[in-house]
Amino acid sequence: MNPQTEAEHLRAALNHAAHQYYTLDAPEIPDAEYDKLFQRLQAIEAEHPELITPDSPTQRVGGTVLAGFTPVRHRVPMLSIRTETDTTAGGAQAFDARIRRELKLAQEEPPVAYVAEPKFDGLAINLRYEQGVLVQAATRGDGEMGEDVTQNIRTIGQIPLRLRATDSETGEGGGFSIPPVLEVRGEVYMRRDDFEALNDRQREKMAAGDKSAKTYINPRNTAAGAVRQLDSAITRQRPLSFFAYGLGEITPAEEGGPDFATHWQMLQALGAWGFPVSSLVAQAQGAEELVAYHQKIAAERDNLPFDIDGVVYKVDSLELQRRLGFVSREPRWAVAHKYPAQEQLTTVQTIDVQVGRTGKLTPVAKLAPVFVGGVTVTNATLHNELEARRKDVRVGDTVIVRRAGDVIPEIVAVLPEKRVPGAGEFTMPATCPVCGSDVVREEGEADHRCTGGLFCAAQRKEAMLHFASRRAMDVEGLGDKLVEQLVDSGVVKTLPDLYKLGLSSLVALDRMAQKSAQNVVDALNKSRQTTLARFLFALGIRHVGETTAKDLARHFGNLDAIMGASAEHLLQVPDVGPVVAQSLRTFFDQPHNREVVEQLRAAGIEWKEGEPSPAALLPLAGKTFVLTGTFPTLSREQAKEMLEAAGAKVAGSVSKKTHYVVAGAEAGSKLDKARELGLNILDEAGMLALLDNQP
Ligand code: IVH
Repeated sequence: MNPQTEAEHLRAALNHAAHQYYTLDAPEIPDAEYDKLFQRLQAIEAEHPELITPDSPTQRVGGTVLAGFTPVRHRVPMLSIRTETDTTAGGAQAFDARIRRELKLAQEEPPVAYVAEPKFDGLAINLRYEQGVLVQAATRGDGEMGEDVTQNIRTIGQIPLRLRATDSETGEGGGFSIPPVLEVRGEVYMRRDDFEALNDRQREKMAAGDKSAKTYINPRNTAAGAVRQLDSAITRQRPLSFFAYGLGEITPAEEGGPDFATHWQMLQALGAWGFPVSSLVAQAQGAEELVAYHQKIAAERDNLPFDIDGVVYKVDSLELQRRLGFVSREPRWAVAHKYPAQEQLTTVQTIDVQVGRTGKLTPVAKLAPVFVGGVTVTNATLHNELEARRKDVRVGDTVIVRRAGDVIPEIVAVLPEKRVPGAGEFTMPATCPVCGSDVVREEGEADHRCTGGLFCAAQRKEAMLHFASRRAMDVEGLGDKLVEQLVDSGVVKTLPDLYKLGLSSLVALDRMAQKSAQNVVDALNKSRQTTLARFLFALGIRHVGETTAKDLARHFGNLDAIMGASAEHLLQVPDVGPVVAQSLRTFFDQPHNREVVEQLRAAGIEWKEGEPSPAALLPLAGKTFVLTGTFPTLSREQAKEMLEAAGAKVAGSVSKKTHYVVAGAEAGSKLDKARELGLNILDEAGMLALLDNQP
């Protein structure tokens, strides 16, 4: 591509990005990406000055006025700062070297005094005070013209509506009295905790079915969006904060304004007049202390209550600032020294579903490797189906990945315009990708779970540790390390395999002496004699804790009754609610799980069957019947009463959970369905015989 064409492409891309960012508050590319394009354009223009156009993004500060706000002309233009892109210590040294060169300081002359500040990641605001009262607040806009956002800014508690008078006796704030005209500049931002709380509230709204609710991408965009809300009532609901870091117009010293000698002095005065000034602002002498500051803030960055994207160095002496002056729209006396970006663009290669130790299914986006937040990122969790759908991440998508500190990387947004045609919405698989068991999502829960339990390899170690634990089967010596080795080596695949373990296979394991191997074999033998409650608890059925297991054992007395009990029947057990009942049904409806139970019994695990409680004693307890057609002697109502008296449940429709269908003359679709499902079909006589034969 020739330089002219490339410059045109870059300008188009940058103008589009700027419109999205500034005017629509809907950025499409991360800042780092924008910076990259911008610097490339700057480089081309530096090499070919004849290619510079007046409308090149490099020729203005950025942003346009949004229709709906009154335009404001800044009395003193709001400048931008030159960005030092070298994110290493070299960036600070280069700035100091340039300042010394421009001030023509010889090497032996003392270090230059600077003020170092965090570079807050929000949006710049100009606050105008007349006679100490806030009269106007304006956004930066393009630096010359901004927008009047006074009403919105007034909602920010940290911004004084009236300046605090300073006490010239105490000398607080250097004893400077409030000037008749004062414009304060600073950054409106949103704290991270406020941002998280806001998103929590949004998620609640979404969960409650509010279709217009959405979560926000990051604190900066949210703050910018809130300040530029046409309805200030909405701004008020967004918790915003503010830091002051500079001045606009101010009554000159000759006319009674404060005679500041340094930037530092000015910041102290702003603090005394009632503005928040960050406690991280510091004085620094020479390059060495700038480097130290850069490193110190870098170390604290992830733990700060707000986002920063770098630090800013400013020459402290206002006299030196005046001598240094400006290049185009940037002061020579300040520089922004950035940190490595925490957001980058990449693409989604696939979406895998991982199964955790407790059976929870987690969709994970596999990403084209990207360097972000100091590491190469290849995975980002999508948490659950709801979250994956909310973000609407699809295979092939271009996404913004964020990684801040030690926090796990996440996809903050998808660029829908880059979506490849035909990419389908993500859905959770109906069966477990590890073991093939059914996947369920319980009501009111966000997570999908594998029902494989004991059968699922992903859950095997966890299941085994629980099985062997003291209050379950109490297999002494079968701990973390051993389970790990047994499962990883493939010696033990299922719980019943444990009872096949011989001395020789145990001794073959790492660090397993004859003696400890014998102990494990003995402990396994001993565990064969147990109780129904322990065994039930040991199966690790979700929501079935020790107490519930005891209740179930007491109520039903034997395992077959529990395995065959309908959800309705299970609900009769004291303290068993719908969640537990459903969980039990789900577990025992999986053939895999029944198989494991059978094999464990075959391995010699046994317990004394207890006395079932009277309710459970009814002969047909736990059985579900469906009646259809006309019977020769009984009415449908009579048949129903007889069955219910024997403890059965009579349902209206046939499903695979139906135990018996009793069919009379002209039985219709229910009978067909029963045949289809291979259910037990009885006629009236068969039903009566069944009732007769019950003890
Ligand atoms: S001083 C002439 N100090 O960075 C210098 N700016 O491009 C004017 N910013 O628009 C800015 N933290 O929104 C300054 N401590 C800080 C800052 C800061 C953040 C932002 C501000 C400005 C942009 C500079």
